[in-house]
Amino acid sequence: MRVTIRKARRSDRSAVAALFKEMFDFHGQRDAHFTRTESGHEVFGDWFIDQIGQESSMPLVAEVDGEVAGYALGILRKHPQVFLHRDYGEVNDIAVGAKFRRQGTGQALFARMSEWFTSHGITRIEARVATSNEVSSGFWRRLGFTPYLETLVLKTGAGAARHAKDT
Ligand SMILES: CC(C)(COP(=O)(O)OP(=O)(O)OC[C@H]1O[C@@H](n2cnc3c(N)ncnc32)[C@H](O)[C@@H]1OP(=O)(O)O)[C@@H](O)C(=O)NCCC(=O)NCCS
Repeated sequence: MRVTIRKARRSDRSAVAALFKEMFDFHGQRDAHFTRTESGHEVFGDWFIDQIGQESSMPLVAEVDGEVAGYALGILRKHPQVFLHRDYGEVNDIAVGAKFRRQGTGQALFARMSEWFTSHGITRIEARVATSNEVSSGFWRRLGFTPYLETLVLKTGAGAARHAKDT
């Protein structure tokens, strides 16, 4: 198996949309909040391709034996002005198709993103991880990430009723 990491091209749109669909539905199986609209993956595909050529974004894809097996998107961000150290790199997304997992592709995508962040002076990288996703929790911890914020949710009214129906 040969993995190549490269910058995304416009022609990757539909492969990335399909991978996003798989990734989002994977989350949706664990938490109904991540329920995709019918065209949600197409919307993401368009937005991902719009990141090509943006100075603050690095959209990447992984090719395995010529097939797009995964994608990742890194974005240069700033915390609000009250922070002394404002710059950080955000892992906006990373996904590897189920049949390509556990072969180092996710790690290779992150390594390339991380190099790009470093070349832009970034010394802090953040990733938002759904607590219901045991796979990404294992992945990010293996790469040395540690938790620093906890997002809590209170479901009220119709949201609480929907949650009760889901569980
Ligand atoms: C998370 C994801 C990108 C990892 O991609 P991958 O190509 O399988 O990752 P790698 O093969 O590079 O894994 C590197 C290490 O991460 C850890 N890891 C990966 N998958 C794991 C899992 N399911 N459980 C626990 N640890 C895991 C392992 O330590 C692994 O090294 P090892 O295989 O030598 O043990 C992929 O599983 C994925 O797309 N998942 C669904 C979508 C998702 O959760 N995306 C992240 C959103 S934040």
